[in-house]
Amino acid sequence: MIGIVSYGGYIPRLRLNRMAIYRHMGWFAPALVTVAQGERSFCNWDEDVLTLAVEAGRNCLRGRDRSRVDGHYLCSTSFPFTDRLNAGISKEALNLRDDLPAMDFSSSQRCGTSALLTALDVVKGGSCGEVLLAAADKRPTRPASFYEMWYGDGAAALLLGSENVLAEYLGGVSLAKDFVGHYRGAGRDFDYTWEERWIRDEGYSKIIPEAVGALFEKLSITMEDVDHLVFPCFFKAEHRKIAKKLGAGPEKLIDNLHEVCGETGAAHPLVMLCHALETAKPGERILLCGFGQGADALLFRVTDEIASRERGAFLRTLENGCATENYMKFLKFRDLIDPEMGIRAEAPTQTAMTVLYRNRKMLHGLIGGKCASCGTAQFPKMDICVNPDCRATGTQTEHPFADEPARVKSFTADLLAVSVDPPAIYGMVEFENGGRFMADFTDVEKEDVAVGQPVRMVFRKRYTDKERGFSGYFWKALPILQKKTETGASRSSDFDDRVAVVTGAGAGLGRVYALELAARGCKVVVNDLGGAADGRGDSKNAADAVVEEIRQAGGEAVASYDSVATPEGGEAIINAALSAFGRIDIVINNAGILRDRSFLKLGPEDWKAVLDVHLAGAYHVTRPAFAKMREQGYGRIVFTTSAAGLFGNFGQTNYSAAKLGLVGLMNSLKLEGLKYDIKVNTVAPIARTRLTEDILPPDLLERMRPEFVAPLVLYLCREDCEESGQVFNAAMGYYNRSAIFTGPGAVVGDGRTPPTPEDIHRHFDAIHDLGNAREYHNLTEALNPMIDAFESGPADGNGGGSSEPGGVAAIFKRMPEAFQADKSEGVSAVFQYVIGGDGGGEWFVTVKEQTCSVQKGRADAADTTIKMDGADFLALMQGKANAMNLFTTGKLKVEGDMMKSQLIGKLFRF
Ligand code: NAI
Repeated sequence: MIGIVSYGGYIPRLRLNRMAIYRHMGWFAPALVTVAQGERSFCNWDEDVLTLAVEAGRNCLRGRDRSRVDGHYLCSTSFPFTDRLNAGISKEALNLRDDLPAMDFSSSQRCGTSALLTALDVVKGGSCGEVLLAAADKRPTRPASFYEMWYGDGAAALLLGSENVLAEYLGGVSLAKDFVGHYRGAGRDFDYTWEERWIRDEGYSKIIPEAVGALFEKLSITMEDVDHLVFPCFFKAEHRKIAKKLGAGPEKLIDNLHEVCGETGAAHPLVMLCHALETAKPGERILLCGFGQGADALLFRVTDEIASRERGAFLRTLENGCATENYMKFLKFRDLIDPEMGIRAEAPTQTAMTVLYRNRKMLHGLIGGKCASCGTAQFPKMDICVNPDCRATGTQTEHPFADEPARVKSFTADLLAVSVDPPAIYGMVEFENGGRFMADFTDVEKEDVAVGQPVRMVFRKRYTDKERGFSGYFWKALPILQKKTETGASRSSDFDDRVAVVTGAGAGLGRVYALELAARGCKVVVNDLGGAADGRGDSKNAADAVVEEIRQAGGEAVASYDSVATPEGGEAIINAALSAFGRIDIVINNAGILRDRSFLKLGPEDWKAVLDVHLAGAYHVTRPAFAKMREQGYGRIVFTTSAAGLFGNFGQTNYSAAKLGLVGLMNSLKLEGLKYDIKVNTVAPIARTRLTEDILPPDLLERMRPEFVAPLVLYLCREDCEESGQVFNAAMGYYNRSAIFTGPGAVVGDGRTPPTPEDIHRHFDAIHDLGNAREYHNLTEALNPMIDAFESGPADGNGGGSSEPGGVAAIFKRMPEAFQADKSEGVSAVFQYVIGGDGGGEWFVTVKEQTCSVQKGRADAADTTIKMDGADFLALMQGKANAMNLFTTGKLKVEGDMMKSQLIGKLFRF
C-alpha cells in the first residue's frame, strides 16, 4: 500500500480583515464589498514561500525520522529564486540528507497536485522510500483588486511512503490544456487576469468535471464512492455548483477556506486536503483535484492508521490567527508601498556566496556542535569546547538546535535599528539543554516578550538585498505567547509546582486537560496507550505528540505509554510522575475505549475490555497515587463518567456499568480522602472526539469542543476547590450537577413482620414518590431516615425525624435525651462544640460507658472539636442542612479525631 504517511500545514499568523481593504479602497472599487467576508492570511515581512514551506514541512515531519526521507519536492508559483534550487534551501532548513533528489515544481496553480502524482509514482516504483512534498504560495496582487481579496498565503506538506499509510492512494489522472485564465509573464510583478466569467464558465466548470470523469472511468467508480470532494475554486457559488454537477452535495464538499485564510495558490489543494484529513474517518474516500492549465484528480482512502494519530494541529494553525485592520502594514510587508527607511537602511547587504556555502548547515539548518567528550552543546560549532572544565579540541559533533526548547535570556526592543516592522526586537536565547545565541525575535509585539518566556526557533528571511535580488535566511526566535491558552483563558500560575497525571491524554478530552494544566504551570504526565477507539493496538505517537505540544508551548511534560488496564500499568504511570517530578497532586482518570454492542451480542471479551480500562483502570492508577497523596496531605482526583452510565444508553451496557461504577468508587473514596485534603469528583463530559464523531449530529459536534469541558475539570483540580464527592455534567459551555436523590418513602407494616407484596402494592405511590427527596452523602446518613421512620412509629405515610424547635442551648439541654445508648457500645469520646453567632457558646459532650453528659464550657481534653455558626448548627439538628455540605463549604470545621466525629450522627437522634 502506498499513500500519505503524514501531513502538516502552516498558515501565517497574520490575517487581514477583508473589510479593512474595503474601508481603505471602497471609494475606488466599491464592488470589493461583495467578497469582503472574513480574513485573508498574509506573510510577515520576513516570511516567503521558503519559510512557509519549511514550517509546513516541520509540522509534517514532527516525531518522524528525517533520515528516512529519500526525496524532497517543493512546489510554488512565487519562488524567491527563478534560477537557484529553492528545494535545495528548504532541504537544508529541514535537515534532510544530502544524497536525495530535491526538485522545484512550478508554473501552474496545480503544480502541487502534479508533484504529488509524481511523488506517488516514485514511491510506487521503489526508488524512494519516503518523499517529502511541500507546496507554498505568496502570490503578489494589485491593491484593491478582487484577487487581493481572494488570495491568501499558506503552505502544506505531505510525506508519501509505503509504511503506516494513513490515506491510501487509489489512483489518479492528469489532464493538460493550455487554458489561460491568468498568467504571470517573466519578470512581471503581477498576474494578468482575463474576465472572471471566462475563468468560471470555460475553466473550472468544464475542466474539473472532465478530470473527475476521467478518474471515475479509470477506477470504475462514481461520486457515490466518494465521501469528501476537495478542489480549490475561489468563486464560492461556482464551487458549490461544480460539486452539485458532479453529484456531490454540500456534505461532501470541503470548504474552500475563503473566510479563514483565502486561496493559497499552488498549496491550496493540499491545504484543503490537510483540512479534510483532520476529521476524516477510516474507510472514507477523498477525491482531490488541482486546477491550472488542465487538472489533476487523485483518489485516497483513509485507513485505520489515522485513528491512532494525533490530529488537530492543522486546525489550530487555521484558528490561531492574529487579525489586523492595518491595511498599510499589509501593503508595506508586501513591498507595495515604499516609505522612507532612513540612511541606516542603505548599509550594504551583499551576501558572500563563499561564506554562505561553507556555513550552510549552520545558517540554514541551525546546526551547532556538541562535545563528544563532556556533552556540552554550543552554537556555533567550533574546534574548542566552550565548557571551561573540558576545553577539549576536535570533539564537536553536529547538533541540530531548531527543535530544541529555549527561553528568552535577555532582550531589547530597538526603535533606532532598521526594521520593516519597528521596533526591532532581538536578544539572547538560551536552549534548555545547553547552548545560547543572539537572535532576532519575530511574530511578536514588544509588550508580549518577557525574560524567561519560552521561544520556538523558526526559519525566516533575515534581509533582502533588493539591488541584487537576493534574500538571506536564518533562524529567529518566536516567543510563545503567554497571554492566551486554547480556551482563551488568561494564562496563570494556578498550578505552579503541582504535578498531574492525565490518563488517555494523547487525544480528545485528555489532551486538552493536559495542555490547559501545563499552560497554567502544572507539570504533566501525558499517559496514553495510543490504541484505536476500541482499545486495540498501541503507539507512542499520541502521547509523544502532546508532550511535544506542551514543550513547544514552554510547558513541562513527560510521556507515559503504559496501559491503565493493569495494576503494573497503574503503578508505572504514577512512578513516571514521581521519578520525573518528585510528587503527584492531581490524577485525572480519563482514558477510555468503546466496544458498543446490544446486550445479547456483547461477549465476555468486550464486557471485560471496557470494564478493565474505565473502572479497573481508574482503580489501578488512583490507588498508588492515593497513597502518596495521603502521605503529603493533599490531592485532587477526577473520575470520568458518562451520561450513558448516569442515565443509560442503548448498546452500551458494558460502558454504562463501568461508568456508573466510577461514581460508586468516588462516593466511598471521598470519605477516605476527607481527612487528608484529598478531593474526589467526577465529570460527565460531552465533546467532539473520535468516540463521538459518529454518534452526535454534525451541527452539535461543531459546538462541542473539548475546550468547553476542560475549565470545569481544571476547577476541580485546583487547590481552592472545596467540593468532594460530586458529579458534574459539562458540554458546550453548559455545566450542571447530577446527584442521587432519595425519596421520604413509607413504612409499610409494623417493622416486626415483613409486609406482603400486596402491602407494597398498596403503598407503592408513597414508596415511589420523590417529593421532598434528599441527597445523602454517606451510608450512615442514608440509614438515619429509615431508623427515624420506625422510631416515630409505623405509618402509612411518610416517615422521618421530627424537627427541633428552640435555640442552640436548648439542643444541648436535650442531648442526653437524644443519646442512643444502645449505639454507643465501646465508644469513649469527648466532643467539644464551639458555636458562633447568636445564642452560641461552648459546650462539651462526654460519651463513656454507654452514658452521655453535657457541660457548658471547654473540656480539658476533647477528642474532636466541632466549630460552626449557631444558625448552621440549628439547621443541621433540624435536618435542614447536611453535615457533609457544611463541611465541604467550610461552614463546619472539625479538628482532632475525624473518625470519632462521624459517630455523632449515630449517637444522637433528635
Ligand atoms: P478519545 O478516544 O479521544 O481519548 C481517549 C484516550 O484514551 C485515547 O487517546 C486512548 O488512546 C486512551 N486510552 C484508551 N485505552 C487506554 C489505556 N488502556 N491506557 C491508557 N490510555 C488509553 O476519547 P474522549 O472522548 O476524549 O474520551 C475521554 C474520556 O471521556 C473517556 O473516558 C470517555 O469514556 C469519556 N467520555 C467522553 C464523552 C465524549 O463526549 N467525548 C462522553 C462521555 C464520556
